[in-house]
Parts: sequence; C-alpha cells; structure tokens
Amino acid sequence: MRHDARDLISLTDLADEDLQAIVLRGVDHAAGRTGGERPLTGRVVGTYFSKTSTRTRTAFTCAALRLGAQVIAYGPGDLQLNTGESIEDTGRVFAAMLDAVVARTAGPPAELRAMAAHPRMAVVNAMTADEHPTQALADLTTLQERFGGIEGLRLLYVGEGNNTAAALALALTRFAGTHLELRTPPGYGVDPAVLERARILADGHGAVVAERHDMADLPGDLDVVYTTRWQTTGTSKPDPDWRSVFAPFRVTAELWDDHSKAVFMHDLPAHRGEEVDADVLDGPASIAFTQAENKLHSAMAVLEWCMRG
Ligand code: CP
Repeated sequence: MRHDARDLISLTDLADEDLQAIVLRGVDHAAGRTGGERPLTGRVVGTYFSKTSTRTRTAFTCAALRLGAQVIAYGPGDLQLNTGESIEDTGRVFAAMLDAVVARTAGPPAELRAMAAHPRMAVVNAMTADEHPTQALADLTTLQERFGGIEGLRLLYVGEGNNTAAALALALTRFAGTHLELRTPPGYGVDPAVLERARILADGHGAVVAERHDMADLPGDLDVVYTTRWQTTGTSKPDPDWRSVFAPFRVTAELWDDHSKAVFMHDLPAHRGEEVDADVLDGPASIAFTQAENKLHSAMAVLEWCMRG
C-alpha cells in the first residue's frame, strides 16, 4: 500500500512545529530512546547523488536501512538524465516505484520540485546549489543535544555564505532569542533573497540575523563558532585570487582564545590549516564529529517525517 508523502526541499517547506519535531526526534534517535523501531519496513528509498558526498549519502542510506526500508543507490552516471531524459519524466517513473528519493544535485531547488510533483513519493533535498536543509536539521539536532535547547543561543558563522549558511539562517531564526552573526568574505555573502527571508523569520520569532564582510568587532558571549570549507561541493571560484579574500576568515587558535566558552562546529569535510586550524577542529571544544554523527539520527527523523506523516 502506498501512502501520501511529504517533501523536504527547502526549510521553508517546514512549519515551525515540524522543524521542532524533527529536531527532537533526531535527539531521541541519538539518545537511543526510539527502541529500534522499523516503521519503514516494506518501503523503498532511492538515493541519487550527482555530486560527491560522504556524510549525507551514508546517513540517509543507513537511516533508511535502520528504519526497515530497502535502498536503491544511483550515482552521477546512472540515470537517463545523463542522456537527456527530463527531470519531470524521471520523477514520474520514480514515483511509480519508489516511496522516497533523497537527491543531491548541482542545480537549483526547482529541479527537485520538478521531481516532486507526485504525492505518493517524498523528495528530500540532500543539497542543492542554494540550500542544504538536512545539514541545518543535523546542526540543530546537535545544538539541542548539546545545550538542551536552542532558544537564546548566540552563534558566529565564519566563511562563505554557501548553502550550509543559507540553511542555518533559515533554521536558527525560527528560535526565539537566537543571534546568528554571519561573517562572510566580501563577494561571497549569503544570497540577499535568502538573507531577507531569514530576517523576516527572525523578526517573527524574536531572533536576530546579521551579516558583515569583515572580522572586526566580533560579538562576545558566543555559544558556538561555526565554519565551513572554503570550496563548497560542486562549486568553483572564477577569481584566481579568492584565497587572499578568504584568508582573514580562518578560524584560528588565536580567535579561539577570545571565545573559549564556545563550542566549535563544522559541517565537514574540513581542510585543516585552511578554513580552520587543526588545534581548533581537533581540540576539546570541537563537536564537529558529533555533528557528523547526528546526520544519521537527523536523517532518520527526516525520513520518518516525510514517509509516515
Ligand atoms: N556536510 C556534508 O554535507 O557532507 P557530505 O558532502 O560528505 O555529505
């Protein structure tokens, strides 16, 4: 029997209560409080990754298997998309056979929306050019687990205003009293439309989101310093001198001296000595690898939300 499904293509698809429920369910999975249930037994999940992935692909594959589903994996060269079949036709065929597809593409979310026109198949965005929603859900799961709540947290994000930053801005601003300070290199900021959307969310939830393109006058009393690698998956930078623009935005051991109360987060993969000093990434304040593990627990919560209703 096929069930109606729910898509997760952008965080803006989620009502506040859905976002919170997924985060809390992810924490329950991480704590082993969900009792090894296999609610997706008999269901089939496709994973389609046209770009490289270690964490997200493994997390969703393991999540589907742990929940009792079976998985079909498609790599970048496997589908007839490569020979010109449309994304709409691909989605139509998938929906006749799969219960969900978890997809990472290089294009805009609109591609996934074209695949998602079928109510009985869920489509999950495992990263598009604009947004990485399941990363933000894993990040919030990690914050909830670490701090016991998300409201009121103060977070500094340093680095490119990429799809991870966009997702974080669209997620954290749903929680009252949070402050998200984005420090992005000039020319590499968060998409202005996303930032405006995040500001509207922040205004509606008693939160703050701000972006600057320098590292002066950083806010104090931080709970989290977050960075991301300088070369986002599936992208390149036309400016041959881009590294000199990014250099001031490294999370160094010296920067850490001023924020020693904070924890360090990184979506990984990391390049030690580039966006972050090894002493920080591998130091006692780092929860980056807990964050990576939480991608599994959060992916289980996402699949349950999408496929169980
Ligand atoms: N953070 C993240 O999305 O990792 P992968 O690219 O390895 O999936």
